[in-house]
Amino acid sequence: MSESTSTLYRIIQERRSIRRFDGSSIPPEVLQRVLEAATMAPSAHNRQPWRFVIITTMEDKRSLANALGERLAEDRLADGDDPGQIERDVAQSIERISNAPVVVIGCLSMEDMDIYPDERRITAEYNMAVQSVSMAAQNLLLAAHAEGLGACWLCAPLFAKDLVREELSLPEGWEPQGLIILGYPAEAGQGRPRRLVDEVSIWR
Ligand SMILES: Cc1cc2nc3c(=O)[nH]c(=O)nc-3n(C[C@H](O)[C@H](O)[C@H](O)COP(=O)(O)O)c2cc1C
Repeated sequence: MSESTSTLYRIIQERRSIRRFDGSSIPPEVLQRVLEAATMAPSAHNRQPWRFVIITTMEDKRSLANALGERLAEDRLADGDDPGQIERDVAQSIERISNAPVVVIGCLSMEDMDIYPDERRITAEYNMAVQSVSMAAQNLLLAAHAEGLGACWLCAPLFAKDLVREELSLPEGWEPQGLIILGYPAEAGQGRPRRLVDEVSIWR
């Protein structure tokens, strides 16, 4: 195996979701490289439906984190969850987002995607855009790891698209898909088990 091949596998294998950061800031050129790596992802028809909102100010991070926390609390209370546990989870979520030096909101735009008259193809086209944004996000996570950064994809915006749109005054058609917290790691990250290839594959 060549050196570059083994380096790539090492980066893939060693990446972990990192949720706590040491507080040091990310140099702009590092952030730029990581974002450029995201834009090198494959996408359906090469339409590149990903859009990014990069949040660096404490004020914006806090206000977004608080808004997402409120929505989480509302949803969990409606589910009948224990209020004490909800409070702890909301506090943890707010802390994770506010304490990340950089927060990237991964969004999707359908503006360049194909338009179809029937539900089946409308849904397929939309799913292709979601898949493309996910690929960009994975590139971003791997590039971040290669740069010595930690990162974690959080799904909260998906449950509060309206709220994120409003908080960030997103351009028309930008649909929030997820939120990536980014910074220099203050934890090693847990090694989460993976299913074996044979468990998740059918060979024919
Ligand atoms: C679509 C998606 C949504 C996720 N949402 C969250 C989340 O809301 N909160 C969180 O702490 N981690 C979230 N994660 C991170 C996963 O928990 C993590 O990737 C998984 O446990 C495997 O751990 P690893 O990334 O360290 O290998 C999400 C990951 C993906 C791909």
